[in-house]
Amino acid sequence: MMCLPASPPALALRTWLGLGLFVLLCLGTGQALEKKVVKSKVGEKVRLPCCHEIPRSEGLREYRVYWQKNITDVVLAYSEGEMIRRHERYRNRTEMDPWNLTLWISPVEILDNGSYQCVVQRNSVVVCGESVILFVTADFSKPNVTAEVSAESCELTEMVITCSSHGGFPRPRISGALNNVSVEWNASWVSKSRFSPYNVTGKLVLNVTKDVNITCSVEYSGFAKSTSLLLKKTNDCVVPPVPPPYNVITASIIIVITFILALTLAVRYLPRHGENELESEDLALNKYRLEIKRFLTIKLARSWSTLR
Ligand SMILES: *[C@@H]1O[C@H](CO)[C@@H](O)[C@H](O)[C@H]1NC(C)=O
Ligand SMILES: *[C@@H]1O[C@H](CO)[C@@H](O)[C@H](O)[C@H]1NC(C)=O
Ligand SMILES: *[C@@H]1O[C@H](CO)[C@@H](O)[C@H](O)[C@H]1NC(C)=O
Ligand SMILES: *[C@@H]1O[C@H](CO)[C@@H](O)[C@H](O)[C@H]1NC(C)=O
Ligand SMILES: *[C@@H]1O[C@H](CO)[C@@H](O)[C@H](O)[C@H]1NC(C)=O
Ligand SMILES: *[C@@H]1O[C@H](CO)[C@@H](O)[C@H](O)[C@H]1NC(C)=O
Ligand SMILES: *[C@@H]1O[C@H](CO)[C@@H](O)[C@H](O)[C@H]1NC(C)=O
Ligand SMILES: *[C@@H]1O[C@H](CO)[C@@H](O)[C@H](O)[C@H]1NC(C)=O
Ligand SMILES: *[C@@H]1O[C@H](CO)[C@@H](O)[C@H](O)[C@H]1NC(C)=O
Ligand SMILES: *[C@@H]1O[C@H](CO)[C@@H](O)[C@H](O)[C@H]1NC(C)=O
Repeated sequence: MMCLPASPPALALRTWLGLGLFVLLCLGTGQALEKKVVKSKVGEKVRLPCCHEIPRSEGLREYRVYWQKNITDVVLAYSEGEMIRRHERYRNRTEMDPWNLTLWISPVEILDNGSYQCVVQRNSVVVCGESVILFVTADFSKPNVTAEVSAESCELTEMVITCSSHGGFPRPRISGALNNVSVEWNASWVSKSRFSPYNVTGKLVLNVTKDVNITCSVEYSGFAKSTSLLLKKTNDCVVPPVPPPYNVITASIIIVITFILALTLAVRYLPRHGENELESEDLALNKYRLEIKRFLTIKLARSWSTLR
């Protein structure tokens, strides 16, 4: 931890002495205390605690107080009870409690994110210095998960899943789960600058073979928002072709063979139309023909009923 020069540069020697003491003390406190962390959402009012409470017997007049950010920027400074500096960006948004020196910021902005130091001096002697880290977050919208079918067959449906969320800070992580098994999204982020709200979009191509539940989570600074969507396999083909049982195959073969036999017989023995044949022969053949016809009809009917 570093500290700001405490006194005006005119008093060179005293500044050096003061500075030496200052840095020592800052290092001491930096090691002794773990840094305080404060989380706040954009638009809220936040309280950054200092390290000293002025006794009721004294007053702010006897003190010099610096609230600075990222070591280099003075947010607010008091000397002899008067405000001597205030950063333009914090005008109208900051207030310091005159007894416990707590800094209030309202409304909090994304740019306020960072490390703050409170340094208290009394008669040019450092009383204390402390760091507080302010983490600014902005809520993301509840993720919007949509699915689009890109290809389908009887076995699977290929889907393009999109998950999007907007208006949050800082840059989020996007994670997912498919029926409780984690999946990677192909994520992309957009933001006007490093200190502007982010929009995030995750894409995923999936082959869905049965109905599945997909979850998309947007995680930022310890917070998370998630949405689930049930993906339905769309194109279920009607009655998948199961191989027919053995006896049906046999029946089919018998039918085909009988049919071919009948056809051969018919071609060989039945008279063709328009040919002159003897009457007696014709009669006998006709009887035979009818016989075959009846036999075939019965046989076919039976085979069909076995097939059904
Ligand atoms: C804080 O200061 C350091 C240099 O001291 C600088 O590199 C960094 O960008 C600053 N961070 C912010 C958030 O201003
Ligand atoms: C600060 O607040 C005062 C009164 O509350 C208002 O008149 C002034 O316009 C504000 N200044 C800025 C920079 O917002
Ligand atoms: C400082 O005083 C304010 C009241 O002005 C109080 O709300 C706050 O909790 C106090 N902070 C600490 C650290 O005691
Ligand atoms: C906010 O400030 C903290 C402390 O300086 C820093 O670690 C963090 O990276 C900052 N966050 C962003 C988004 O810049
Ligand atoms: C989700 O995204 C789809 C496609 O981009 C859009 O049509 C729909 O309005 C969005 N829904 C919400 C609640 O934002
Ligand atoms: C999901 O997985 C987690 C650990 O990965 C497990 O604790 C939890 O019970 C699982 N939930 C379901 C519904 O399977
Ligand atoms: C992620 O998306 C980008 C752009 O849309 C693409 O170029 C890249 O190949 C994708 N990566 C994966 C792993 O799908
Ligand atoms: C983020 O999304 C919101 C709402 O969809 C849109 O109005 C805004 O312009 C987007 N921001 C960026 C940086 O693209
Ligand atoms: C989905 O299946 C099709 C066809 O089997 C294949 O070409 C494609 O690469 C698969 N996609 C994924 C994401 O596994
Ligand atoms: C999908 O999974 C999530 C988390 O694993 C669960 O909270 C949600 O109820 C599930 N949704 C459906 C429709 O099964």
